[in-house]
Amino acid sequence: MAKPELFDEVVILGMGFVGLTLAAVVAEAGHRVLGVDTNSETISNLNVGRASFYEPNLEIQINNGLTSGNLRFEPILAASQKKRIFIVSVGTPLKGNQLDSGAITSIISTLGECIQEGDLVLLRSTIPVGLTRKIKGAISSKTEKNFLLAMCPERTLEGSALEELRVLPQIVGAPDQISREAARDFFLTFAPKVVQVDSYEAAELAKLSSNIARDVRFGLANEIALACERFRINFEDVRIATIEDYPRDGLARLGPVAGPCLEKDSWIFLESLHRFEGDDIEAHLESSIIKSARLVNESLAGWAISNVNHYLTLKGRNTGPVRILHLGMAFKGNPPTNDLRGSDAIKVFNGLTSNGLNHNYSWDAEVSFEELNQAGLNPVHKDFSQVDFDIIIVHNNHSLNKKKVSEYIDFKKPGDELYILDLCNAIEAKKLLPSNVIYRAFGAAQNA
Ligand SMILES: NC(=O)c1ccc[n+]([C@@H]2O[C@H](COP(=O)([O-])OP(=O)(O)OC[C@H]3O[C@@H](n4cnc5c(N)ncnc54)[C@H](O)[C@@H]3O)[C@@H](O)[C@H]2O)c1
Repeated sequence: MAKPELFDEVVILGMGFVGLTLAAVVAEAGHRVLGVDTNSETISNLNVGRASFYEPNLEIQINNGLTSGNLRFEPILAASQKKRIFIVSVGTPLKGNQLDSGAITSIISTLGECIQEGDLVLLRSTIPVGLTRKIKGAISSKTEKNFLLAMCPERTLEGSALEELRVLPQIVGAPDQISREAARDFFLTFAPKVVQVDSYEAAELAKLSSNIARDVRFGLANEIALACERFRINFEDVRIATIEDYPRDGLARLGPVAGPCLEKDSWIFLESLHRFEGDDIEAHLESSIIKSARLVNESLAGWAISNVNHYLTLKGRNTGPVRILHLGMAFKGNPPTNDLRGSDAIKVFNGLTSNGLNHNYSWDAEVSFEELNQAGLNPVHKDFSQVDFDIIIVHNNHSLNKKKVSEYIDFKKPGDELYILDLCNAIEAKKLLPSNVIYRAFGAAQNA
């Protein structure tokens, strides 16, 4: 079978965050890369060097690839006599708590029509355990050609993807050595190390487990933070005490756990279990620490909404309009991203809008005014001066949030009360605040 240098072209299906960052790095490594996406607007923008999301240095690399001729983009994958590697990185979002497999199954007929003898398919999207095997069977039923296939999941962090693709080990899983080795040889053209596992399922589960481990760790921290609220203890004091010069596992930081991967991979794992029939599955799900941690993390948006409503009730302001500024709408603040997918901030924004009484506004250091507007999040301009806010909710830990809050406190009239709810201890308001400002951090000892 062909070695990577014998492949003429790397075709990447899906030019979202995963496919596009990979395309940029693979083209830089000297491969001829074709990026395919069914969204024609995405493709027109890419052909003039514009990405539909922010990732440091990404547009520079896309432009380098376009100039060198190593990178090109098309809305449709055509059949070709070229020997190709096909990398599947289409989206696998959740619908409710179930996988929406529309995009991933749509590539089956595309590949069935285009694959040539000896081509290599690399599945990169995150999928339930067992799905790679079914996809392989479905493609095989549409073509007479023999092809190689490996499951090679993506594990980069948004905001550091280009760097991480060049330094992280890549997982490669396939039952046959020839597919594993072809995938390994390809990844070693830009990554330092490949970890091989001898089934598709082990690779699928390794990816899910990487995110589940984080989700559970954060869920544990958030559960203890919720307990700190009851015990009137500062979570941060407890966390520091668990990690200071102590060599074993300490607590993670508290705060919203969201985004396109962390919010869904635990559910995809649980869905994988449902796919395997057996009497004890419901019992297992009942006692699943993965499910419990996810539910704790998902409860934080409701906690924030209740906290604000409790404050308004205490102040007798729960019947009249209040102006709430939501700061940090992207699903995380550090590393910076403009990705709004799965963001808890949006759930809180919508939850506090639903009673029809509050006027909610938003601002984010990375998400533009236009993007916030398009998402229906009623953005304010960056000096915040056009609205007199009653409440500020800090949703993520972007480094600019603290500065913006501090500037706003200086701007606020001394007689007007301002309630600040800090959901990830981003503000660290140790300094003495003016008497009109009530500061409340999630997991802190004081009550509203
Ligand atoms: N975003 C992350 O941080 C991250 C990290 C690791 C793994 N993943 C996984 O990688 C996969 C892709 O994630 P993403 O964030 O890039 O998704 P995304 O939704 O941003 O991008 C997917 C792209 O695929 C395109 N598409 C859909 N069907 C297509 C088809 N048949 N042919 C060609 N293009 C098609 C869509 O138009 C879209 O642009 C998902 O399974 C995700 O869970 C994501």
